Amino acid sequence: MGYLDDEKWAKAWTVPALAEAKAAGRKLAMLTAYDASFARVLDRHGVDLVLVGDSLGMVVRGLASTIPVTVGDIAYHTAAVASGLSRALLVSDLPFLADATPERALDASQQLAAAGAQMVKLEGAGHKLETIRFLTEREIPVCAHLGLTPQSVLRLGGYKVQGREERAAARLHEDSVAVAEAGASMLVLECVPSAVAASVTATTPIPTIGIGAGPGCDGQVLVLHDMLGLDTGHRAPKFVKDFLAEGGSVAGAVAAYCAAVRDGSFPDAAHAYQ
Ligand code: KIV
Repeated sequence: MGYLDDEKWAKAWTVPALAEAKAAGRKLAMLTAYDASFARVLDRHGVDLVLVGDSLGMVVRGLASTIPVTVGDIAYHTAAVASGLSRALLVSDLPFLADATPERALDASQQLAAAGAQMVKLEGAGHKLETIRFLTEREIPVCAHLGLTPQSVLRLGGYKVQGREERAAARLHEDSVAVAEAGASMLVLECVPSAVAASVTATTPIPTIGIGAGPGCDGQVLVLHDMLGLDTGHRAPKFVKDFLAEGGSVAGAVAAYCAAVRDGSFPDAAHAYQ
């Protein structure tokens, strides 16, 4: 069945529809985009959510990490992506320290919303819970991001799978419930063992979107350049799959990715952590 055959999910996405998708067991396909042309391809070939990620620092600007990315960078790319979308919901990242205080996060979110973002994503729990509450009480929908949080790379000393030890897995569970209680509408889980992500998904009321978190999440996200098999100058993680190889074209790769997310065949065990 083509993605537009099911009328219910062919409409433009809204924040409340994400919760309906989780309740209905309808998997969400998300990809990053940074410009209008790719956004248009994603929007026309089945992607439900488009993320203007701070990954743009690494895959567009060629930086070593996401740390130097600014609100201005995200706003610029958000405006470009917004002009290519008519159906997919647009989520934009709050870059490093733009969410250091609730007030800074509100100011940054206002700029991103003005550029077209319908939701902002921020990394972590802890003191960020106050920020999630502050933003959602002021009508800014929030996507939380737990597990591997790339903005913590200086403290972590690298990009590593999170939640392997029992204590870390328990903490992930607590944080996922806390971000939902604080008002987050969605949760990205990055680089988490499949079983842990599946159990977080079962206990969290909001949709989970996995990246390196196994097939048990409510949806999946990949960085566009990774799923097109481009050499970004960074080592591709285990969970990355080149969909261009099977799709034959950018549009075909996007359609193949969406189909694989929806039927649960991506990610398989080879693209997940045990
Ligand atoms: O910046 C980004 O692209 C992200 C995804 C990896 C989830 O946060």
